[in-house]
Amino acid sequence: MGGHGKVRVAVIGAGYWGPNLIRNFSQLKDVEVSLVCDVDRSRLDHIRDLYPHVSVSDNYQEATRGTDVDAICVATPVRWHYEMAKDALLHDKHVMVEKPLTSDVGQAEELVQLAESRGRVLLVDHTFEYTPAVNKIREMIVNGDLGEIYYVSMSRLNLGLFQKDINVIWDLAPHDISILNFTLGHSPEAVSANGNANILPDIEDVAMLTLYYPGNLIAYIQVSWLDPRKTRQATFVGNRKMLVYDDVEPLEKLKVYDKGVEGPKHYDTFGEFQLSYRYGDIYTPFLDSHEPLTMGCKHFLDCILRDALPKSGGPEGLSVVRVLEGAQRSLKKGGAKEAIEYKRGDQ
Ligand SMILES: NC(=O)c1ccc[n+]([C@@H]2O[C@H](COP(=O)([O-])OP(=O)(O)OC[C@H]3O[C@@H](n4cnc5c(N)ncnc54)[C@H](O)[C@@H]3O)[C@@H](O)[C@H]2O)c1
Repeated sequence: MGGHGKVRVAVIGAGYWGPNLIRNFSQLKDVEVSLVCDVDRSRLDHIRDLYPHVSVSDNYQEATRGTDVDAICVATPVRWHYEMAKDALLHDKHVMVEKPLTSDVGQAEELVQLAESRGRVLLVDHTFEYTPAVNKIREMIVNGDLGEIYYVSMSRLNLGLFQKDINVIWDLAPHDISILNFTLGHSPEAVSANGNANILPDIEDVAMLTLYYPGNLIAYIQVSWLDPRKTRQATFVGNRKMLVYDDVEPLEKLKVYDKGVEGPKHYDTFGEFQLSYRYGDIYTPFLDSHEPLTMGCKHFLDCILRDALPKSGGPEGLSVVRVLEGAQRSLKKGGAKEAIEYKRGDQ
């Protein structure tokens, strides 16, 4: 711990997302952002301009091994997550890793075990789990407001930002998979995926995933870097109510529809077969407005200082990587349904 009992945080990766972490941690009173690392000197110069008191380095091991660092945040491309997080845990740092936790299941399992054996916090930045909208959806599902969920349909589409080392599934679907696992309270049992690489060879830029959850529940996730419109939508259809979540909407992100359809309890002849439709009110639940990343950073601190249980910890990050790996297998097999194996305690 640094002077005044502050947690000294180092951020590795100051590209697109890293500066958001630096800004949020800088605003927390229990934190001192002590170091920012990036191999790109121009990014370090930019950070120095914004935060003149922060030290910078082009060697990430100054963060993972530094004696004056308590916790690190990894905001580098996914292929670096495992190596950086592991080095930090081996040097007894608390670790917050950007989504997805790692690029394969074996690496994620190792990090979960390492964090546990070293008694360190491992948090995955599943940003949407910290949004008021997603927490409201979870609350409504837990309270039974939507009833039994029949299916969920999600779209996360935009033009760009293309990644060089991962396809659109590994880039965008972690958000939707973590939202589903969090709101439904289950991980899927199987997954299938189809996709196409249109612009870069072998890097799929459009994909469709189907997730099979316990019971009859099914979820569809469409992800694309090749769409003219920015879309961030999810529709949850339950037997009592239906809900549409539109994250692009600035204020009214959630709309709850008191709509439904019921089949006849019994029917013997075609003449008796009547569906009854219900068209009720549509309402918009009130939501707090706060930046989800601020909540995520505060939660990381709560886990470090006050032993809070990580909401999106290593096991939750591992579950998401299991689904991504299953989807990748399915993609390579032309959309075959792939079972997802879990081990005790990692869901
Ligand atoms: N939670 C979210 O909503 C969200 C949003 C965007 C990105 N992300 C995640 O953040 C991570 C970074 O994504 P990005 O879009 O900022 O990528 P980016 O390419 O814009 O930035 C990555 C930075 O890491 C640096 N870097 C690469 N290798 C390094 C190394 N060995 N040592 C030190 N620095 C190194 C690069 O120079 C670059 O500045 C990814 O894991 C991504 O999935 C999360």
